[in-house]
Amino acid sequence: MISRAIIDEIIFRNDIEQVIGSYVTLKRAGSNMNGLCPFHSEKTPSFTVFPATKSFYCFGCGAGGDVISFVMRHENLDYVDALEFLAARAGITIPVDGESEKQNGIPRKRVYEMNLAAARFFRDCLYDEKYGKAAMEYLVGKRKLDMATIKHFGIGCSPDNAWMLTNHMKRLGYNDEELSAGFLCGIGKNSGKPYDYFRNRVIFPIIDTTGNVVAFGGRVLDDSKPKYLNTSDTPAFKKSRHLFALNFARKHCEERMILCEGYMDVVALHAAGFENAVATLGTAITSEQARIFAKYTKQVIICYDSDDAGQTAANKAIRLLSEVGIDVRVLRLEGAKDPDEYIKKFGADAFGRVLDAGVTGFDFKLGNIIKKYNLAVSEDVIKASAEVSQLIAYTNSEVERELCIRKAVDILKVPFEAMKNDVERIRRGLLREMKKKQSEAAQMSVKNLDDRVNTDASRNVRGSRAEETLLGLMLIFDEFRHEAATGKIGLSSEDFVTAFGKRVFDSLCRLELDEQGFSKSLLGLDFNADELGRIERIELERRSLARNDREVFLASIAALKKEKATVNSENDPFADLRLKQELNKRAKENKNT
Ligand code: UTP
Ligand code: MN
Repeated sequence: MISRAIIDEIIFRNDIEQVIGSYVTLKRAGSNMNGLCPFHSEKTPSFTVFPATKSFYCFGCGAGGDVISFVMRHENLDYVDALEFLAARAGITIPVDGESEKQNGIPRKRVYEMNLAAARFFRDCLYDEKYGKAAMEYLVGKRKLDMATIKHFGIGCSPDNAWMLTNHMKRLGYNDEELSAGFLCGIGKNSGKPYDYFRNRVIFPIIDTTGNVVAFGGRVLDDSKPKYLNTSDTPAFKKSRHLFALNFARKHCEERMILCEGYMDVVALHAAGFENAVATLGTAITSEQARIFAKYTKQVIICYDSDDAGQTAANKAIRLLSEVGIDVRVLRLEGAKDPDEYIKKFGADAFGRVLDAGVTGFDFKLGNIIKKYNLAVSEDVIKASAEVSQLIAYTNSEVERELCIRKAVDILKVPFEAMKNDVERIRRGLLREMKKKQSEAAQMSVKNLDDRVNTDASRNVRGSRAEETLLGLMLIFDEFRHEAATGKIGLSSEDFVTAFGKRVFDSLCRLELDEQGFSKSLLGLDFNADELGRIERIELERRSLARNDREVFLASIAALKKEKATVNSENDPFADLRLKQELNKRAKENKNT
């Protein structure tokens, strides 16, 4: 079988917008792209590409899936052929059987062991007279870290030498394949020989909440580029699912956490007593990471760099964190580019005061809008008011909308009633749009009840709906899929009422338990293009619905079990009798004990 890493690589290097864009003329519509569906004839575009989830769906005919399913359908290929098609397009060679299998089939535990040994090596190097001198000078002299902090974070260094770590690890019994799969070494293109990936860098080990060393970040000692090298995703590590220093912060985070951009910011904050600080690993925050925050805390204070890039990134973080119900605050640092520099310049107490003065996500966005305009000019006031009204219209709570409007009219000096009318008008439009989408979706579900994909659905509408809810949640949220697959939640394929639902459930569980880790794309091996479209719709419908997911998850399991029980008793005239016998038996047993 083809390894997950190759599939991920193929999906990564075949940008879905570009691939589909080469078949279909796409127009941007908000964060998505629309076009005329290539799979059925239509005059108004209902074919949508979702770059954020790297997926597509046609609201007209139900075609959907990832870039691989698109090619399956369009080129009429099976999953493996579609993969090869896309690999060729991106210039990737899919290794013949065995080759990549071995490399990526290395058990997680082995990778953790290997990383731990490497972390010890890096640490020992830092304390070594010869190999660690420059790095230690950099950390203590230039970055002003104390020894306790350096030890606490397990900071180390990689010597200015291309083979020291590799040789050390080989002596410990790790082979080239293992070392390169774990991103500790690269393999020379010409020589075929391994060489150390991190050289002449300060090394930050990244430790998960159970204490495993999952990855490393390495910083140069000067201004050379790239400033940081990070472990890429491996079978044991996905950077979108980890936060730097969460292993420490989790013990100090009940009330609030601080989210910053850099490793050094986190280290400096912890050293200054703010042990609730974490950072993403060199990437913008993902929805998976937002959900991690939601598990640990109520409030997140975003403390990004004060440059434009940092402020833009803050907008995304506000959205993702608010979506999972977190109270989001944003700091704007004056007189320093990042928290590390701020603390060095003004001290921990000053930073503590700034923390308490963090503004809400709304205030932050309001400030950004106002900054763009000259409020002495009335045209500008009109434009700013329009933007602000748009922003407020998205707020669901009426009280919150009122408060936001009050704040905005105060600054913009426009009449309260005028802005309130604007906001409510925009809001009515939004609601109309949403209703329209919902009724379209409802119509679609009715239409699809007698479809070819799930032939049993019409026989048990309630049951199949509960199934779709469960499967949608399992597709979107790792934790639900994990709980279902490991049997923690008491749901099994026996509970499913439709053959299709059962198959999807089984596949999801099997992929979840695979030791290479879950890959949704691999559903392409078990399902045909129509079925993949249905699976995409199931996920999409869930994604567009409200929160409170765990409650919905549990309720759907209960609903499904109830439906199943009814189906069983309808099919089985003796079900009642058996139940009575079972109850009698238990009653007797109870008496005997
Ligand atoms: P910064 O450049 O703000 O890093 O990038 P920093 O931690 O403040 O570093 P110092 O203070 O210059 O030492 C923020 C984060 O982006 C990632 C790293 O995770 C870094 O901590 N990054 C940055 C990279 O992954 N690669 C790079 O080349 C640069
Ligand atoms: Mn910095």
